[in-house]
Amino acid sequence: MTPALVYLSVVSILLLHSIVIFASHENNKEIYIVHLESPDGGHFFSNFEDLHNWHHSFLPSNTDNSSSSRMVYSYRNVVNGFAARLTPEEVTALQDKEGIISVRPRQLLHAQTTHSTNFLGLHQNLGFWEKSNYGKGMIIGVLDSGITPDHPSFHDEGVPPPPSRWKGKCEFNFTACNNKLVGARYFHEFGNGTPLDENGHGTHTSSTAAGNFMNGANFLGLANGTASGMAPLAHVAMYKVCNATLICSESDILAAIDAAIEDGVDILSLSIAKNSTNFWSDSISLGGFIAMQRGILISCAAGNAGPLPGSVFNGAPWLLTVGASTTDRKLRVTIRLGDAKEIDGESAFQPKEFSETPLPLIFPGTNVSDPTAAFCSVESLKNIDVKGKIVLCISGGNITRTGKGHFVKDAGGAGMILMNGESLGFTILADPHVLPAAHVSYADGLKIKSYMNSTAHPLATFLFRGTIFGDDHAPAVAGFSGRGPNLASPGILKPDIIGPGVNVLAAWPKSIENNTDTKSTFNIVSGTSMSCPHVSGIATLVKSAHPDWSPAAIKSAIMTTPDLVTLGDKPIEDEKGVPADFFATGAGHVNPSRASDPGLIYDIQPEDYVPYLCGLNYSNRVVSMFVLRKVNCSSTIPESKLNYPSFSIRLGLEAKTYTRTVTNVGAAVSSYTVEIVPPQGVDVRVDPPLLNLSKLNQRKTYQVTFSRSSTSTISATFVQGYLKWTSSKHFVRSPIVVTFE
Ligand SMILES: *[C@@H]1O[C@H](CO)[C@@H](O)[C@H](O)[C@H]1NC(C)=O
Ligand SMILES: *[C@@H]1O[C@H](CO)[C@@H](O)[C@H](O)[C@H]1NC(C)=O
Ligand SMILES: *[C@@H]1O[C@H](CO)[C@@H](O)[C@H](O)[C@H]1NC(C)=O
Ligand SMILES: *[C@@H]1O[C@H](CO)[C@@H](O)[C@H](O)[C@H]1NC(C)=O
Ligand SMILES: *[C@@H]1O[C@H](CO)[C@@H](O)[C@H](O)[C@H]1NC(C)=O
Ligand SMILES: *[C@@H]1O[C@H](CO)[C@@H](O)[C@H](O)[C@H]1NC(C)=O
Ligand SMILES: *[C@@H]1O[C@H](CO)[C@@H](O)[C@H](O)[C@H]1NC(C)=O
Ligand SMILES: *[C@@H]1O[C@H](CO)[C@@H](O)[C@H](O)[C@H]1NC(C)=O
Ligand SMILES: *[C@@H]1O[C@H](CO)[C@@H](O)[C@H](O)[C@H]1NC(C)=O
Ligand SMILES: *[C@@H]1O[C@H](CO)[C@@H](O)[C@H](O)[C@H]1NC(C)=O
Ligand SMILES: *[C@@H]1O[C@H](CO)[C@@H](O)[C@H](O)[C@H]1NC(C)=O
Ligand SMILES: *[C@@H]1O[C@H](CO)[C@@H](O)[C@H](O)[C@H]1NC(C)=O
Repeated sequence: MTPALVYLSVVSILLLHSIVIFASHENNKEIYIVHLESPDGGHFFSNFEDLHNWHHSFLPSNTDNSSSSRMVYSYRNVVNGFAARLTPEEVTALQDKEGIISVRPRQLLHAQTTHSTNFLGLHQNLGFWEKSNYGKGMIIGVLDSGITPDHPSFHDEGVPPPPSRWKGKCEFNFTACNNKLVGARYFHEFGNGTPLDENGHGTHTSSTAAGNFMNGANFLGLANGTASGMAPLAHVAMYKVCNATLICSESDILAAIDAAIEDGVDILSLSIAKNSTNFWSDSISLGGFIAMQRGILISCAAGNAGPLPGSVFNGAPWLLTVGASTTDRKLRVTIRLGDAKEIDGESAFQPKEFSETPLPLIFPGTNVSDPTAAFCSVESLKNIDVKGKIVLCISGGNITRTGKGHFVKDAGGAGMILMNGESLGFTILADPHVLPAAHVSYADGLKIKSYMNSTAHPLATFLFRGTIFGDDHAPAVAGFSGRGPNLASPGILKPDIIGPGVNVLAAWPKSIENNTDTKSTFNIVSGTSMSCPHVSGIATLVKSAHPDWSPAAIKSAIMTTPDLVTLGDKPIEDEKGVPADFFATGAGHVNPSRASDPGLIYDIQPEDYVPYLCGLNYSNRVVSMFVLRKVNCSSTIPESKLNYPSFSIRLGLEAKTYTRTVTNVGAAVSSYTVEIVPPQGVDVRVDPPLLNLSKLNQRKTYQVTFSRSSTSTISATFVQGYLKWTSSKHFVRSPIVVTFE
């Protein structure tokens, strides 16, 4: 179909002072982020000019006449401070000045895709779409690599003009924005002078969150259907902070959140993450705090550093942290071995004509004196004859999955079987390979190796079966998805939720493959970068249905209602094929229609985070970096006392009691009873066990006490269970993870 493309340029509202000042690069200067103490009384400047002048006053004056060439960003909302180019000597001098809290080099972050894959998952017809009005009237801000404004996913049919509070800008140098894409800005360090997407990542994430309906979306002829984002009639605003190789600068991220808050976004989606051991040196946590304070929910990727424990990123409790799961759509390639055994794999490249004649199968990794051979390095393939053969390669070894295919093809190989290493287990990615190929699990790879051991002349061929729906094991946690515990705050369970992030099909700027007839403007990609915008879009729908809900309320609705079972009605599994724990799934797999009608919510006010931050043993000055006013940490709470919708408890011999408060957002008159599935060796008591509610927005408090039910030692490093409030219409479930002291 050819959608009518009607582009209206959005009226740009000129701000009094541009916050972006271009600076010349000088060799010995690096960009630093400078946090200043808040003025007494927490009173801010009455206008931005005074604020900027105050920031400039901290810059060296004698070395350079124009301090403006040093100033990179003078922040207005997210940070009490600025980003500037400074020499090491100037940093030392600055650190000694009064009124400075911290001066730290700006760091680089990564967008969270797994190099080259793809993903779909946009097509389920959500029952509550109508109720949430398809996200109409909501604005999703996306911080990413830019956007492709003329992609048909961003047509604006059915999308009303943006609300009058919208103040965003469209910084393309041609008419590009419309009622769907209402804003597009770039930030100068990596913005490259245009909001255009030079990678594809930002186009993909934006269309996943809020792409409009588009018929006949497919990738190389596969996965054909009507594509749309999760909130198809919501507005999108792109804030370009990542460059073409998906490196994103912290100074840009802060500036983008700063701008998005003033522009008037409702939800922010950040498929970007960094390994941080604390929240105060992390721009997403810092900027996200102020966004949360202004009523904006920030949905973030959990990171792709899984599956080891402690690999989850973006762990602050005011962020919604999204891990990745598989879907039931497979781009099937079946491998038939010489002994007639068949093994299922996947690939997004499905040649129409491929002879089923068995071909010799070879594994370069048998050469033990070459440690790169098993990974099919270009050098190792030079040593052996792979011409006309199918080559078995192990994923990893610092070579991308599609890169291995290139090497095999260039060496004359006829095909590739790509097997996972042990850590990625059963997580199979359908990549756009450049040759006939199949990605298989670690377990299936071992079967293939074992077959190869059993015969002098191993053979294999591929059967290309196209798109197949149905997988009783879906959703399963992706091997790469970041895992708890949450090292920056172990008392807060993270990730919060999982959503589709494996083999996701969404918009892409250009056809990525030329060796087929299909000219595709879609791509299939994997990563928590892809699961994040799914949940961001769902959060937008929830907010559209409940515009007055706080970010914490929306988070709670998403976290107390997810699924714990697969399509086959078995517990959700991880990449090893065993039941996944809550450190992998968070509260579970997102369920959009239940999230829009949760019954009860656990709300948190911005002020409630102050005693929480103090309880992390952050100093008064550090806590003031979040709240942007003077703080006295006279009252503190342990992390687990925050009114969070899940529990992460450290338990010794002494019992621990926590208070939680729920707010009624379901039926005015309703009665909830508690069901407890206690973790092994733990006694969980809830008082009262029954909550009677008589009106909307009524709050009820209960206490939950955790104690050891026996003194016998438990070998597991942690145990888990849940508590669940149930009424005739709703359930409200909170996962519990307990580690022992
Ligand atoms: C500062 O400005 C003055 C006059 O405009 C000029 O003579 C001087 O060289 C400048 N100093 C530096 C360090 O740029
Ligand atoms: C728009 O900006 C791009 C990138 O900076 C540049 O290449 C192009 O020439 C500009 N086009 C116009 C019409 O100014
Ligand atoms: C995709 O589906 C549409 C109908 O929904 C059909 O017209 C089109 O030919 C299909 N395209 C491919 C490549 O299968
Ligand atoms: C992106 O930024 C990183 C860090 O500065 C740099 O190494 C890389 O070359 C940049 N990529 C592009 C395409 O400019
Ligand atoms: C994150 O950083 C910490 C401290 O530098 C390190 O110990 C840990 O291994 C890192 N985690 C990941 C997943 O890279
Ligand atoms: C094995 O690897 C070594 C080291 O790279 C190489 O010199 C040798 O030729 C390889 N042997 C075979 C049989 O591939
Ligand atoms: C991975 O490869 C890139 C270039 O291909 C190289 O720059 C980098 O150092 C390698 N990393 C490791 C851990 O070997
Ligand atoms: C194949 O044989 C090699 C050498 O005999 C052995 O080390 C390896 O474990 C075998 N692999 C499988 C999967 O059976
Ligand atoms: C890719 O396809 C386009 C359009 O058919 C063509 O113009 C271009 O030359 C092709 N590129 C390559 C590298 O084959
Ligand atoms: C903070 O410090 C207190 C006292 O030293 C300690 O008991 C507590 O565990 C610390 N909290 C965190 C989160 O590190
Ligand atoms: C913080 O508050 C406590 C109790 O109100 C008070 O005793 C203390 O002096 C205050 N500290 C600072 C630094 O203001
Ligand atoms: C709660 O409501 C139920 C049914 O309306 C009633 O039977 C029960 O006595 C009430 N319990 C409390 C503690 O108010």
